Amino acid sequence: MREKTEVQNRIKPGLARPLLRVEDLKLYFRTTQGIVQAVDTISFALGRTQALAVLGESGCGKTSLAKAILRLLPRNVQTYSGRVELDGVDVMSWSEERFRREVRWTKVSMVAQAAMNSLNPVLRVGEQIAEPLIVHRGMDKKSAWARAREVVQLVGVPADFLQRYAFELSGGMRQRAVIAMALVTNPDLVILDEPTSSLDVLTQANIMNVLKNIKREFEKSFVLITHDIATSSELADCVAIMYAGQLVEWGTSEQFYPKPLHPYSQKLMASVPRLREERALDFIPGRPPSLINPPRGCRFAERCPSKFFQCEQEPPMIEVQGGRLVKCWLYR
Ligand SMILES: Nc1ncnc2c1ncn2[C@@H]1O[C@H](COP(=O)(O)OP(=O)(O)O)[C@@H](O)[C@H]1O
Ligand SMILES: [Mg+2]
Repeated sequence: MREKTEVQNRIKPGLARPLLRVEDLKLYFRTTQGIVQAVDTISFALGRTQALAVLGESGCGKTSLAKAILRLLPRNVQTYSGRVELDGVDVMSWSEERFRREVRWTKVSMVAQAAMNSLNPVLRVGEQIAEPLIVHRGMDKKSAWARAREVVQLVGVPADFLQRYAFELSGGMRQRAVIAMALVTNPDLVILDEPTSSLDVLTQANIMNVLKNIKREFEKSFVLITHDIATSSELADCVAIMYAGQLVEWGTSEQFYPKPLHPYSQKLMASVPRLREERALDFIPGRPPSLINPPRGCRFAERCPSKFFQCEQEPPMIEVQGGRLVKCWLYR
């Protein structure tokens, strides 16, 4: 069931009782060239059984946002701050040990970018799906396999595939297997990082259908990271647009897809081919800026067709009708 969106204050997308709330989340990396501001002060909230689509070009910080939520941090972290709340509890303040025991893979799991290509080649698929249960839930091998058998059927993999090796499966079946790995511990929230890229269109549609069924029948929440805007609209209840490490737009799907507000979102949407529409595709000239010393002011200004003098200053998150949020001076 859909929760009613309720913006609790002017600048932060929110819900009355969210499953996940992220507040002022920052993740910066240290490199020889300088500090990379990959996730720069992001706030949002996601309700139970809701799906959030996180959209944006490559290099905008989508994967880093996922890692920041799950605290999967590389060694070169320079700053990691803000709040990550689950069911109102600030789990970011927990020790790594407690976080691993009570959050990662148990309450929140993730299908990493290109995970289907990094299945272990020498272990049977079933062993890999059962493993999180043995490691994180302390289950014995037999019960773990029984549960794995249940879960693969949910995602449309025949149970006898558990005995196979990754190279014996098609791309679509491998992707279903890694989704099964993320679901096997029965988490509340699954983060999927580009789960349909590098799959053919038909397989993409099948995977999205699997996710839709799971969301509906098992009341899961999803964060779906993608640059495939067309397929995202089938699953998403709300949409977050990321640009250069920041959130630049937030809205429900009903609000966003028919009428994106931020000039970047509009360009992104216009770059999607549509059936039954004679329209030249709109490509966004240029590339997202480097996140080492990103431009001051609006980070999209240099590529923006609507740029004006005010864009030299950083726009605040501005609330427009219905709790929609957009980080753009045009809506002041
Ligand atoms: N461990 C890291 N060290 C340094 N820079 C990183 C690291 N991980 C990602 N980045 C940089 O952070 C930025 C955002 O990357 P990423 O989160 O992967 O974006 P996206 O998933 O949207 O493509 C990119 O500039 C990327 O090069
Ligand atoms: Mg990525």
